[in-house]
Amino acid sequence: MGEKKILVTGGAGYIGSHVVKLLGDSGEHVVTLDDLSTGFEQAVVAGELVVGDTGDRVLLDRLFERDRYDTVMHFAAHTVVPESVADPLKYYRNNTSSSRVLLEAAQRYGVEHFVFSSTAAVYGVPEGGRADENTRLEPINPYGTSKLMTEWMLRDLGVAGGPRHVILRYFNVAGCDPAGAIGQSTPNATLLVKVACEAAVGRRAGVSIFGTDYSTPDGTGLRDYIHVSDLARAHVDALGYLRRGGESCTLNCGYGHGYSVREVLQAVAEASGEALNIREEPRRAGDPPELIAVADRIRATLGWTPRFDDLGEIVRTNLEWERRIAARDPRAYWAA
Ligand code: UD1
Repeated sequence: MGEKKILVTGGAGYIGSHVVKLLGDSGEHVVTLDDLSTGFEQAVVAGELVVGDTGDRVLLDRLFERDRYDTVMHFAAHTVVPESVADPLKYYRNNTSSSRVLLEAAQRYGVEHFVFSSTAAVYGVPEGGRADENTRLEPINPYGTSKLMTEWMLRDLGVAGGPRHVILRYFNVAGCDPAGAIGQSTPNATLLVKVACEAAVGRRAGVSIFGTDYSTPDGTGLRDYIHVSDLARAHVDALGYLRRGGESCTLNCGYGHGYSVREVLQAVAEASGEALNIREEPRRAGDPPELIAVADRIRATLGWTPRFDDLGEIVRTNLEWERRIAARDPRAYWAA
């Protein structure tokens, strides 16, 4: 047993890989556990990759017996909202039951800190479109419920002497590593910025606007888009906070202001110099008109300071990565 390590589940995925990179840059010793169902081996640019399932008790025992981990960061999850509606048990198995197995191992092996990837989906459709951490928790899909159940397990385990934890509730994550080393290559993407960038580089025929009749300034949905590198920084800040003895807490991750779908598409068109082929379609089921973070607590608690709070920069970094994929650049990776 050498120095303390950090176990990152889902570290080969979009957000996890950006956190692993930053942890590596910060001199941390990282082990990624990922089943590579949607992640990529090449995305893990620091530490060691172990291919396997977060819910695999035997594998977890082997990992925890081999190395001493002071912290677990838990990203591994299914994240497609409509799929969670169609196949809820898939979400409860992977996002909830596997989290329970992981928590049990963390408890058994005396892990001190736990950082959990949660989501703004736990709020459902908050009144007025804004959510602070005390807003009522009313998820409207199994994805949100599956994450909320893990929040509750962590909370209850914390009371019973389990790891101190930071729960991070992500709003709309977008953008890619500004240095271009890693990016967003999730297969069958549904997230707006990724879809629009794929359209801009010709990887799809066009992009749809789901709903133009919302009671928002331009009739399209408003979201709080946060750059993945700022989000990654929040995890490293959470680690420092917990290591300094910080109490368990729950924090929204967003900038506290939003953009409409039309504004995002406009930014992609400007960054790419391509007019996008846009179709206006009816509202997508389950979409709130507006979802913006009240994001003061994360700044006050962690001292987190965003560096990429700029839609142009978010879109530019996403587009850069998409161009590499389109050009079959060997430095990029993508699903066959
Ligand atoms: C995402 C997250 C969700 C989180 C939420 C917080 C995932 C899979 N979902 O969902 O967990 O709770 O952010 O706000 O990570 N849109 C289009 N055309 C498209 C795609 C999207 O018009 O092709 C619109 C949507 O209607 C919505 C906005 O763009 O108004 C953003 O949608 P999307 O990128 O899919 O993210 P969310 O649904 O907000």
